[in-house]
Amino acid sequence: MSGSLLVDNIGELVTNGAGEGPLGIRRNAAVLVEEGRVVWIGPSAYAPAADHHVDAGGAAVLPGFVDSHAHLVFAGDRATEFAARMAGQPYTGGGIRTTVGATRAATDEELRLTVRRLRGEALRQGTTTMEIKSGYGLTVADEARSLRIAAETSTETTFLGAHVVPAEYADRPDDYVGLVCGPMLAAAAPYAKWIDVFCERGAFDVDHARAILACGQAAGLGVRLHANQLGPGPGVQLGVELDAASVDHCTHLSDADVDALAGTAHSDGSGTRTVATLLPGAEFSTRSPYPDARRLLDAGVTVALATDCNPGSSYTSSMPFCVALAVREMRMTPAEAVWAATAGGARALRRDDIGVLTPGARADLVVLDAPSYLHLAYRPGVPLIRQVIRNGVPQ
Ligand code: NIG
Ligand code: FE
Repeated sequence: MSGSLLVDNIGELVTNGAGEGPLGIRRNAAVLVEEGRVVWIGPSAYAPAADHHVDAGGAAVLPGFVDSHAHLVFAGDRATEFAARMAGQPYTGGGIRTTVGATRAATDEELRLTVRRLRGEALRQGTTTMEIKSGYGLTVADEARSLRIAAETSTETTFLGAHVVPAEYADRPDDYVGLVCGPMLAAAAPYAKWIDVFCERGAFDVDHARAILACGQAAGLGVRLHANQLGPGPGVQLGVELDAASVDHCTHLSDADVDALAGTAHSDGSGTRTVATLLPGAEFSTRSPYPDARRLLDAGVTVALATDCNPGSSYTSSMPFCVALAVREMRMTPAEAVWAATAGGARALRRDDIGVLTPGARADLVVLDAPSYLHLAYRPGVPLIRQVIRNGVPQ
């Protein structure tokens, strides 16, 4: 679409910038967009003319959701495993190998269709940025093609060759770590921005995780980490030590973990910049205790919310669902949850051009079918996304 776009008659505009309260709310506002960027925000009554026009009709508008943690490149599903869990089986992550088998057997086109289907589903629910991980290939060729396909859809791509040790390396995990750090990383890095490791009992221990993340950093990738999901462990503190952009899950935290995450970031670059990304869809779908978001927020930790969309532990692409869970089950206020799902996700990806609606930001906007962002938690399960504008283009 060429030319400018005006979104006016916005009853409640969440900017995450200057304005009322923690969400920087402005009322009766308008947003002018040019060349995919926000160029002006002001009172609707004084809005300039534009080539194209969206009338929000008094509804709420917020920045598009930033889903900073998703595993979209896979084949098959694990509905039967889900049903077994709902009948009392625990989640151990063991099902990852089932999806690895299905993914290796799939064609490129089958994987591509799944990525597009899930990305489209998320977009219709207001997600304008979505990180996509590999991690169900676990061979050099299958990890490289997973990332090549992911990169067709997102610039936020993550190499997760260290998701689990695949069956063929079960009795020689050191060799698998060598493969991940060597040929697999070399084949994956051209398509990846980030590297991730599942640091957990039964997956990768802290020494393997440190080695793999260090190789990724040396190859120019940013660090993120699955940590402290199934039990306590050293993952969160390793993430902080390595200046990870985010440590994800954070379900089982010690006081020392919370202190490490709460270390204040200083302008000279010292302190903690690592975000705690909480994934309540995983606790919902594995019937596990939720992370203690209140404890993290009260300690001053920066919190993000994401879906963890994957066929095993959290097969949802819905950020509104995660916001509702975070409010109801994790004692986040609606404002904290909406901030975490937008600006928080942007911080977890070290981006300052998304997750906010301020002049210069990318024009990623969601128009709700509701007068306030509060309805995202107040009306769970209801399709409240009326319109999505991505990069200045109505979808
Ligand atoms: O983030 N924890 C590791 N990986 C995924 C689950 C993957 C699966 O069960 O297939 C997660 O929850
Ligand atoms: Fe995950």
